[in-house]
Amino acid sequence: MSLASYLHSILNFFFIFLSSWWTEVQMGPPDPILGVTEAFKRDTNPKKMNLGVGAYRDDQGKPFVLSCVRKAEAQIAAKKLDKEYLPIGGLAEFSKACSQLALGPDNEVLKSGRSITIQTISGTGSLRVGANFVSRFHNASRDVYLPKPSWGNHTPIFRDAGMQLKAYSYYDPKTCGFDFKGALHDISKIPEKSVIVLHACAHNPTGVDPRPEQWKEMAALIKKRNLLVFFDMAYQGFASGDIDRDAWAVRDFIEQGHNILLSQSFAKNMGLYGERVGGFTVVCKDVEEAKRVESQLKILIRPIYSNPPMNGARIASTILNTPELYKEWLVEVKDMADRIITMREMFVSNLKKEGSTHNWQHVTEQIGMFCFTGLKPEQVERLIKEFSIYMTKDGRISVAGVTSANVGYLAHAIHAVTK
Ligand SMILES: Cc1ncc(COP(=O)(O)O)c(C=O)c1O
Repeated sequence: MSLASYLHSILNFFFIFLSSWWTEVQMGPPDPILGVTEAFKRDTNPKKMNLGVGAYRDDQGKPFVLSCVRKAEAQIAAKKLDKEYLPIGGLAEFSKACSQLALGPDNEVLKSGRSITIQTISGTGSLRVGANFVSRFHNASRDVYLPKPSWGNHTPIFRDAGMQLKAYSYYDPKTCGFDFKGALHDISKIPEKSVIVLHACAHNPTGVDPRPEQWKEMAALIKKRNLLVFFDMAYQGFASGDIDRDAWAVRDFIEQGHNILLSQSFAKNMGLYGERVGGFTVVCKDVEEAKRVESQLKILIRPIYSNPPMNGARIASTILNTPELYKEWLVEVKDMADRIITMREMFVSNLKKEGSTHNWQHVTEQIGMFCFTGLKPEQVERLIKEFSIYMTKDGRISVAGVTSANVGYLAHAIHAVTK
């Protein structure tokens, strides 16, 4: 290399260095949940367990693709369908089946046509479209009330959409259960017309759901306070194994006169995580209002992602609209829920076998993928360091990561750090 070209490359290097556009960009913190997975991957202990991430695993600890999904994929492939763009609101037959699943096919709202459901990019995309819609059109209030605690992503979703985050009491650390009194107390003080977010079932991260009679009282109070209800239903069928039971609160609120917003995800209940299938519903006063809302949802979505992806929606739609596949899905979703319920029971019985005298009743009372163990951050730290058992610092474990083979080891380790 000549001296001239050497000097030129040095100058070039300094020029690039000095002219960077992004020197002001600070390094951001890693995602708290995905960070757990990174640390798990680096660990070489053969007994290691990843109880951080919320994805279902079978009893061998392997990712699980539902048989009805495989069959739907085969049916779709055989049709050799085209890959043209979907409409902005997605696949119509999917959206219809999605709303019927949530509200029940005979729901007056669907029969009268006073709601609009669109296909979204899974639950997160649905929540964000909903948050943007609220931010743009719900001029009466900027405040969104989340349960304390709530799914970690709720805060940035609503904040980035321009809303202000507030909270109401939900979880009682003393009982590891629902703080019903605290919730009612806080809700009674929420200013009129604010938005309140409710987890329809299998509350994430606590696994704690209100009982039907508690939901009823909350619905009445929320009506009295004139709050706008935003339901997040990411686990329909996955909580109890029964799609109707898990949608009970959503349907009851509608029956009690709430014109709700609803986000749905098919990530967990159909195991379609990476396919990104979801729905967003707005229940309106009448058909005319629903049409206006639909037009504005399209205007909102068009400059964000134009229209949603088709593959996952075709799979979910085929399952929901083909009677044999639908029947098979109901059995498979129940099998997943039952495996989780069985793991909760085995976990508690193993803790007793280990000699633990603590009250672990909350483990079997909580529902869905997550269990809020009540472990303290220093106990979580010990589980990671001494036993290679990974979970989020708040003591939440994904029960879906527990198997018949490792539940004994988990109980042994948790007894060791809690005795
Ligand atoms: C409460 C809650 N809402 C929404 C979602 C959205 O998930 P996804 O975007 O994968 O459908 C999740 C996923 O963990 C969740 O737990």
